[in-house]
Amino acid sequence: MPSVTDLRAKAGSAPITMLTAYDAPTAALVDEAGVDVILVGDSLGNAVLGHETTLPVTVDEMASHTASVARGVDEALVVADMPFLSVGVDEAESVRNCGRMLKEAGADAVKLESGPHTVALTERLVQLGIPVMAHLGLTPQRVNQLGGYTRQGTTEAAADEIVDLAGAHEAAGAFALVLEHVPANLAAALTEELDVPTIGIGAGPDCDGQVLVFHDVVGLSTWTPPFARQFGDARAEMTRAVESYLEAVESGAFPADEHSHVEADLEGLY
Ligand code: KIV
Repeated sequence: MPSVTDLRAKAGSAPITMLTAYDAPTAALVDEAGVDVILVGDSLGNAVLGHETTLPVTVDEMASHTASVARGVDEALVVADMPFLSVGVDEAESVRNCGRMLKEAGADAVKLESGPHTVALTERLVQLGIPVMAHLGLTPQRVNQLGGYTRQGTTEAAADEIVDLAGAHEAAGAFALVLEHVPANLAAALTEELDVPTIGIGAGPDCDGQVLVFHDVVGLSTWTPPFARQFGDARAEMTRAVESYLEAVESGAFPADEHSHVEADLEGLY
């Protein structure tokens, strides 16, 4: 099983692959395909739980889905995303919430949507043995403040802020940095400057790795961000299977003899 140090060692030599998963069978599939990191994203809220944003996702839901993912994985590093307001309100509560993901749910690390408020917390978590992946650029938990899922770091001042925060989180001990929806040239400069790996989503080709949401990749999402690419059409295949099932039941073709059994001892009784 790779550790956060293996991930750091891989940076720069081969692209790091990261994908989300939210349950054991999907995590097993993604793990067997050979992904380096499985993120139990709080995108759980939109992708799986039917919410419009990630904001309603709870710590209990993240712990439960992370535990499910951890049970399905043999090789990949499992990272649990910390949901809205689970960190940053109170240090002790933040540490306990993050600790649950390792202690109770079996994650290897946590990811924090980062900002000035997570620098000291990152340092504290790392001191306590909780590896932290930072996340800068578009942080979807701020959707109400941002007014949408908009590009970040597009002005010099905004880019400088991201550069400063990236450096501060590296100094605080974060083992990797997700960069979301930022200019490719900003991500490339940060990748060059930082020792820790950068993992991009809508951040161009020059990051040390890439991450996408599983449902976007396999074609299960009803909406995909402009920077995502659909690599399959699972929705079409699932719809075909469900429609075939309905048709077989309605026509009497299912269940067939091979799906049923007759008990000889009961013959004549009923
Ligand atoms: O919640 C999530 O899936 C994420 C990734 C998109 C980085 O934060």
